[in-house]
Amino acid sequence: MTMQQPAPGAAAVPPPIEIENLVRTYHMGDMRVHALRGISLRVAHGEFVAVMGASGSGKSTFMNLLGCLDRPTSGRYLLEGIDTGTLNRDQLADIRNRKIGFVFQGFNLLPRTTARENVELPLVYTHMRRRERDRRAADALANVGLVDRMDHMPNQLSGGQQQRVAIARALVVEPAIVLADEPTGNLDSRTSVEIMGILQRLNNERALTIILVTHEPDVAQYARRIVRFHDGRIVSDAPVARPRDAASDLETLGAETPCEDDSP
Ligand SMILES: Nc1ncnc2c1ncn2[C@@H]1O[C@H](COP(=O)(O)OP(=O)(O)OP(=O)(O)O)[C@@H](O)[C@H]1O
Ligand SMILES: [Mg+2]
Repeated sequence: MTMQQPAPGAAAVPPPIEIENLVRTYHMGDMRVHALRGISLRVAHGEFVAVMGASGSGKSTFMNLLGCLDRPTSGRYLLEGIDTGTLNRDQLADIRNRKIGFVFQGFNLLPRTTARENVELPLVYTHMRRRERDRRAADALANVGLVDRMDHMPNQLSGGQQQRVAIARALVVEPAIVLADEPTGNLDSRTSVEIMGILQRLNNERALTIILVTHEPDVAQYARRIVRFHDGRIVSDAPVARPRDAASDLETLGAETPCEDDSP
């Protein structure tokens, strides 16, 4: 394994994710479901990992643990060096709000709430001043190309635009990791490439650490590393030899501009 050269000033920051022998067993009455049977994984700062595997192989269970939405039955999870097993409920919620950005298949935006307000939501818990919240939300929306849609409600946005709002909402807290569980699952193929283009750019330009679950092999090829689950275990973990470039794929797909509604 090669050691990545830490960025200047970042030498002391531990890896975003270090997991040892993570087990999650669900108890359903007398029945036990072994969703994760001992997962070990290390993800370095700035990695872009795709998680693949058949339905029921444990991917979402794993993402829920990474996102501190759930606790493991056994095993250790260090998030930026913090042993999450030692945290109480409030501390876990706090670390989740500060360090994790979530993007879901179904966008999960609040209806009757503007794009900007949706993006500001994670900041409401941070005691940040209103003006600073506004500025951060506007920056995050600009980052996903939606400055001109800030005052739209979710039902006034396309699926791809809604997912971009969700990405802006994930970014606004400047998280240590972004967790995306099938973010392109509800989108057509061109819009999926657009979303992957945004994630790729954030990964390249800001060294954002991204873990993405997908069923689609094409989508996984935009990541730099693919981890495959089978029946609650990791069965392969390998770098993508030549990740696809979403920006050039979009050019190949043609010069449609689905976000512009005023073209001649
Ligand atoms: N809350 C729960 N209680 C009991 N069993 C559960 C629970 N959540 C998941 N499971 C079971 O754990 C296993 C792993 O589920 P999980 O949702 O992690 O799979 P997945 O890989 O995300 O599947 P998919 O690709 O369909 O989303 C499955 O057998 C599922 O039925
Ligand atoms: Mg799932």
